[in-house]
Order: sequence, then C-alpha cells, then structure tokens
Amino acid sequence: MITEIPAQKLDTEQFIATKVAEIREAVGSGTAINALSGGVDSSAVTMLGHRALGDRLRTVLVENGLMRQGEPEQVVKFFHDLGVPVEVVDARDEFFSALQGLTDPEEKREAITQTFYRHVFGRLVKTSGAKCLLQGTILTDVDETVAGIKRQHNVFEQLGIDPQEAFGYRILEPLIQLRKDGVRKVGKALGLPSALFDRIPFPGPALAARVIGEATPQRIATVRAANAVVERLLKGTGAFQYMAILHEDRVTGMRDGKRDFGCQIEVRCWDSVDARTATPTRLSFDVLQNLADQILRDTPGVVSVTYNIASKPPSTIEAV
Ligand code: XMP
Repeated sequence: MITEIPAQKLDTEQFIATKVAEIREAVGSGTAINALSGGVDSSAVTMLGHRALGDRLRTVLVENGLMRQGEPEQVVKFFHDLGVPVEVVDARDEFFSALQGLTDPEEKREAITQTFYRHVFGRLVKTSGAKCLLQGTILTDVDETVAGIKRQHNVFEQLGIDPQEAFGYRILEPLIQLRKDGVRKVGKALGLPSALFDRIPFPGPALAARVIGEATPQRIATVRAANAVVERLLKGTGAFQYMAILHEDRVTGMRDGKRDFGCQIEVRCWDSVDARTATPTRLSFDVLQNLADQILRDTPGVVSVTYNIASKPPSTIEAV
C-alpha cells in the first residue's frame, strides 16, 4: 500500500531530505544507474539521485527512436548545464525490431517494457556492476496499471513482478507517493529550470503511444512532425497536455488535383490538474484551423486533421 502525499501537503525540503537519505542507504557504497527520458518525473529523479550520489550515479538516456523532435539533444544539454552528465545509448534498432508487426496497445507496451528493462537496462546494469536502477514512477502510473486501464511501462511490484528476479536488479522509485503536481514542486525545489519542471507530461512509451496500430519508423516520423506543430502552436495555452495522434484508418483526400488516400491526425489538448480526469481545452476555431494548416503543410501524407472533444473518462489522455 502506497501512502499518497498530496501536492498541497507536500513539504518539498523534507521530502527531498528523506528521499536523498533513502537513496544513499539503498545504494550504500555502490553505484546506481538512472533512467532519464527528459520528462518531468525522470528529470526530478535525476536531480534527486545526483544530489544523493554525485558521480556514483550514471544517468542514461535511451534513444529509443520514439522521442520527440530534437529531444535527446535538448535533454542532454539541459542536464549538462545543470552539471549532470548524461550518457546517450542508441537502441533505436532494438526498439523498432521489438515493435515490428505489433498493433495491440498492450502488446506494444509490453514490447517496450521488455526492451527497456530486460534488454537495454539489463545489459547496462550487468556490465556496470550497479545494483539498482532509479526511475520516476508516480502514483498515477500505479493506479492506472492496477485498475487495468493501461499497463504503464514502468510498473512492476504492484503487478506481482519482482524486478530483481525478472531483470536482475532492484528498482528505486522515490516519487511513487506523488502525482504530477507534487513532482513539479519537487523538481522546482531541486533547481530544475521551468522548461523542465513545467514541461507537459510525456508517456514512457513515447510516440509509440501516439500511433494507433504499428509503430514503424515511418509512422513515428509522421506523428513526430505533427506533434512538433501541436507543441509549437499550443505552448502558450497553459493547457495540461497537448499532442498529435496518428490514426490507423486512411481517408480519401486530394492533392495536386489527384486522389490521395492519406493519413489522419487527431489533435488532443487537455485541461487537467493531476491527469486522473481531464476535459478538452476550448481552443478557438482560429487556433484549430491554424493547427490543421500547419500540420498539413509539415506532415507529408496527411490529408485529415480532427480535434478530440471527449473527456476523460471515458476517454484517456493518450490514445494507445
Ligand atoms: P492516460 O492516457 O492513462 O495518461 O490518461 C495519464 C497521464 O499519464 C501520462 N503517462 C502515461 N500514459 N502510458 C500512458 O498511457 C505511460 O506509460 C505513461 N507514462 C506517463 C500521460 O501522458 C498522461 O499525462
């Protein structure tokens, strides 16, 4: 049973001191590997781990081929400027081979989990001699997995999986009592720049959660281009999260006077406090039209753009 610490009750200094002490005790005189994706949660964990262990923490960013435009370089630069070295491990081929032919959402998630924890981190932990992996699981990830809504890629113990047995290493989850609003407070207190602690959430399965059906390199490239437009145009809205989703169905369109049986992009933009419930942001029609124009201009093969108007529940924030 995990005891929640609501953001309003969170004493960030006390929380940080407790977690730093817990990480030091768990790692002892050894080393730990830290999984950084650049999202709010893993960025906060990186700062906690760095404060606890200094250069006994090896922070790794796995380039899985599913990240957003320019993301690996940006994240490395942010942490370099904070004095935290980040190693990039190129695992793009491994992830795309694991995803090949998979269309079912839970199978895609499982393939990503296995590639990440068993193969990539299994190898890294084994060769480095580290005893544990630090990661940014939060309470919402656990809730949704336990409720059977979605298998979040980073939840194990609550599903009866012992990472030590399954992968050969221990997993430390210092943020597991918090939700996103609490993590942002901790991230800020740890000195993360607002560009990191105020970042919109981004899921562990990355752009594979934004492609309905098979996540091929080409389909990921399509959703990446459309997502870049959505993030650029909706940055100033103050919305909780916004994204582009690539649909599996094709629709008839036309280009240069000829039929073009093309792709559909769905735009989602959410108002939410903690991701448990969410409602679509009331964007103006001008903003929506600008989104459509720029997505159609920048994303080859797309002939249709729609805006989601369903709330969570019964919808969920991500489409996969
Ligand atoms: P959902 O889609 O379940 O997402 O409404 C809730 C919040 O969690 C973020 N998030 C994830 N969502 N798989 C997901 O489907 C993951 O592994 C994951 N990690 C984080 C999601 O972006 C939304 O903010």
